[in-house]
Amino acid sequence: MSNNIDLSIKFCGVKFENPFLLSSSPVSNTGEMVARSFDAGWGGVVFKTLHADQVPIIHPSPRMNTYNYGSKKNIGLQNVEMISDRNLKDNLLDFLYLKKNYPNKVLISSIMGFSNDEWAYLAKASEDNGADMLELNFSCPHMSVEGTGHHVGKAFDLIEKFTATVKKTVSIPVIAKMTPNVTEMIEPALCAKQGGADAISAINTVSGISEIGINDFVPKPNISGLSSVSGMSGSIVKPIGLRFISEMGQCKELSLPLSGIGGIETWVDALEFILVGASTIQVTTSIINYGYGIIQDIIEGLQDFMALKNINKIQDLVGKALPNIKSTDNFDFKHQGNTNYDLKKCVGCGQCYVVCHDAAGQAISWDKEKRRPILDKDKCLSCMICSFICPVEDLITYNKMPLTWNRKQAPVMGKIFAKDLKYKPFCNQT
Ligand SMILES: Cc1cc2nc3c(=O)[nH]c(=O)nc-3n(C[C@H](O)[C@H](O)[C@H](O)COP(=O)(O)O)c2cc1C
Repeated sequence: MSNNIDLSIKFCGVKFENPFLLSSSPVSNTGEMVARSFDAGWGGVVFKTLHADQVPIIHPSPRMNTYNYGSKKNIGLQNVEMISDRNLKDNLLDFLYLKKNYPNKVLISSIMGFSNDEWAYLAKASEDNGADMLELNFSCPHMSVEGTGHHVGKAFDLIEKFTATVKKTVSIPVIAKMTPNVTEMIEPALCAKQGGADAISAINTVSGISEIGINDFVPKPNISGLSSVSGMSGSIVKPIGLRFISEMGQCKELSLPLSGIGGIETWVDALEFILVGASTIQVTTSIINYGYGIIQDIIEGLQDFMALKNINKIQDLVGKALPNIKSTDNFDFKHQGNTNYDLKKCVGCGQCYVVCHDAAGQAISWDKEKRRPILDKDKCLSCMICSFICPVEDLITYNKMPLTWNRKQAPVMGKIFAKDLKYKPFCNQT
């Protein structure tokens, strides 16, 4: 079905046989591991972040904690891992091995200098030993040394300075990897562009605390009685990654190729990042959970989807959702809605009644005899909470309707400006 589908893509002028890469992390730690991932079908790798051997890198132990929520296992991962603890020479020897044995796979060297000179040194050493591209790690949330990792990602002048240093040193394309631990990403991304970056990747891990030990009061991972606010990854961070990629994808001033990262596990996740503007995709946590083999499902799923939609080239999907993302004042307020209940499917659990009563419009009453909801459509807010908690698929569906019903005065949002308000916002009061 999917033989004519072309997943190859050009990113900063470099050809990728498919857009799927290991992101920089333990899954891309050694040449032997990366070789196995290439055999499994990944199109390239961003190698675990290199450093210049100035200080020994020692990882805390234990360095990770999985985030479970009730019966939902591994929906997030917290880590306090540092950059590569291997010496530079061993990492560069692995580059030579990989380029010799896998010339068609793309090798991206992730680097982090502890000084301007070190950025240049690592960039040149990577290029000289076969790296096709560089990714500048401006985003590791665990670096305590000033002027490294996320400290750079939050000090925008340093992003520009180090990017410019690297660009002056090498001729291969340079990607700047952004921290999500900022309120806006456009400004740091523009600084990277100003420094000469050819592309932006996002996101690195999101600062958080996954769990507090309720017996010893020590958050996890518990490192001899202490823990730290540190990097969260996996499914729970996907909405944050999609947000930042979409905002950069929409920014005309930026217009750089984007590499999407954050909680990508299935072909649908990957497609979503492509639709908001990513032309390559990077993955770590789902490989930590399931291994390199997930690439086969990602490739097959995407190829089948494209065949069904008569789309031959993956490039044609990049950014396709961007025109549909607007600020809320662009919404259609002329329509509201209510819900349809297909009561033939109802199992009588009563959850719709509970949530409508306590969190929505009190539009449902409960027939105790029949154990069925009775919906007053005029009171329904169309918030759809009942459908989210209903255990039966498609029992409760959305029904769009014109604004002709008895609460038409309710939706007064949209195109409201502070100057028109009767009561001025506090910040405008003198
Ligand atoms: C244990 C661990 C170690 C990581 N080490 C690095 C690193 O050395 N350099 C880097 O740029 N990103 C590092 N990352 C961040 C990932 O490359 C990726 O940006 C992040 O985990 C989000 O993607 P995911 O949800 O697919 O894991 C690390 C992530 C994890 C979980």
